Amino acid sequence: MAHSHSQASLGLTQPTSVEPIKVSFTVKDIDVTEWTGDLLAVGVTEKDLSKDDNMKFENSILKGLDSQLGGLLAEASVEEDFTGKAGQSAIFRLPGLGCKRIGLIGLGSESPSLAAYRGLGEALATAAKAAQARATAVFLASSEGLSAESKLNTVSAIVSGTILGVHEDNRFKSESKRPLLQFVDIVGLGTGLDLEKKLKSVEDTCSGIIFGRELVNAPANVLTPGVLAEEASKIASMYSDVLSAKILNVEQCKELKMGSYLAVGAASANPPHFIHLCYKPRGPVKARLGLVGKGLTFDSGGYNIKTGPGCSIELMKFDMGGSAAVLGAAKAIGQIKPAGVEVHFIVAACENMISGTGMRPGDIVTASNGKTIEVNNTDAEGRLTLADALVYACNQGVEKIIDLATLTGACVVALGPSIAGVFTPYDALAKEVFSASEATGEKLWRMPLEESYWDSMKSGVADMVNTGGRQGGSITAALFLKQFVDEKVQWMHIDMAGPVWNEKKRSATGFGVSTLVEWVLKNSTS
Ligand code: BES
Ligand code: MN
Ligand code: ZN
Repeated sequence: MAHSHSQASLGLTQPTSVEPIKVSFTVKDIDVTEWTGDLLAVGVTEKDLSKDDNMKFENSILKGLDSQLGGLLAEASVEEDFTGKAGQSAIFRLPGLGCKRIGLIGLGSESPSLAAYRGLGEALATAAKAAQARATAVFLASSEGLSAESKLNTVSAIVSGTILGVHEDNRFKSESKRPLLQFVDIVGLGTGLDLEKKLKSVEDTCSGIIFGRELVNAPANVLTPGVLAEEASKIASMYSDVLSAKILNVEQCKELKMGSYLAVGAASANPPHFIHLCYKPRGPVKARLGLVGKGLTFDSGGYNIKTGPGCSIELMKFDMGGSAAVLGAAKAIGQIKPAGVEVHFIVAACENMISGTGMRPGDIVTASNGKTIEVNNTDAEGRLTLADALVYACNQGVEKIIDLATLTGACVVALGPSIAGVFTPYDALAKEVFSASEATGEKLWRMPLEESYWDSMKSGVADMVNTGGRQGGSITAALFLKQFVDEKVQWMHIDMAGPVWNEKKRSATGFGVSTLVEWVLKNSTS
């Protein structure tokens, strides 16, 4: 991450730049009993573990492995009470064989979900870390029943689980160990061009997810709006054959009359930067899409400062999670280079702070579509920035727009920490996005855009206020955004306030990237 611009290096912290870990995946059709290396991971279902009267596996692959190991596998799986449940794993050290360790990894029921295969990849990464393994292989005890298409999806899930499981964000630790895992052979799930093409696109998507995670994890004293803009520009210059960047400064945003956005950033010593990346494919364009992300590098709440237990002010560096999803998707799309689709990536980046130049509760601001807003709460700042970003996006000639934002605590109350809320009047668009999210495993739930709730957003002096009451808070926020979208554009809002952050890992998830990429690919012609 760059150092120039902004309130220079407050706290003297700079991320160490670590070379990204490159795990190389190879699809192979070999006899697993002949594989040599550090760790062989076997995905098994509960059914695969069933044994005959002589305590021998009925599954032919497990039986083969077990007889090579003199019955150790059958014995140990009983002793360790390994039943094949999803999330279970048992690793055994093998003496004097070509393969140092064998790991049984549970996939759960008879026809495992993609989530179970992602879990298999994660378990492989965890086991490899614990055993300091470099060369590994993974295969399934039963894969005969799988169609060619489900083999593709299975391999994708395993590979993304492994890559994301290996990744640890150590940029801000003064000391850290690098994972050793280098090779993963994927055995018995097919070979060929289709699979290799899919592998490449999974790797590209994961690099976008990791980039998104790192943006969110970076604290607000390092990742200012200016640095976020620089990171976006770097992505564009890295894939300059298809991506271009335009960064607007405060003066240029003023010319575009973005009064709502600029008011939010007005208190900060780190000036706003409006980010617009454009992906243009080679060849003709059939569809034009807009992706808009909330980009608050920090949200103090402003004069309506976040106070009290549970307000999570110390986590509000993650309030640019929407922009991380959008820029992570840009990085992936820049590498995958899908045909027939143009994509605009838009972020109105700024910081919500307190100072004599900041907006006050009660101020009336004017957005770039001319609508006036009475700011009855400075902590409802995300929607103020998105208002001008959505107006700008609609002016790019796009047919569809998705915005992503860590917009409301109310959405976390409604759906919990791992499900994002989806708001759209357009059923066809909802269908596209839900089918994309089924492939990626990101959890979405459709919420109502109840127009009658707009009543609470009426102002006595301006066109609207920026917050309604406590009730239905994520719905009134979505209705607010709708005021800034062209009727001609199909629009969806995703409130990702919950899933942006993994509380247990104390780290960002990269939520949104994979579903956005999948959706863009669905709209492409390649
Ligand atoms: N960034 C917050 C939303 C948020 C809160 C995300 C908690 C993740 C966890 C947003 O800017 C905000 O402060 N929203 C207010 C809106 C309210 C003032 C109407 C909220 O949710 O409390
Ligand atoms: Mn806020
Ligand atoms: Zn916010």
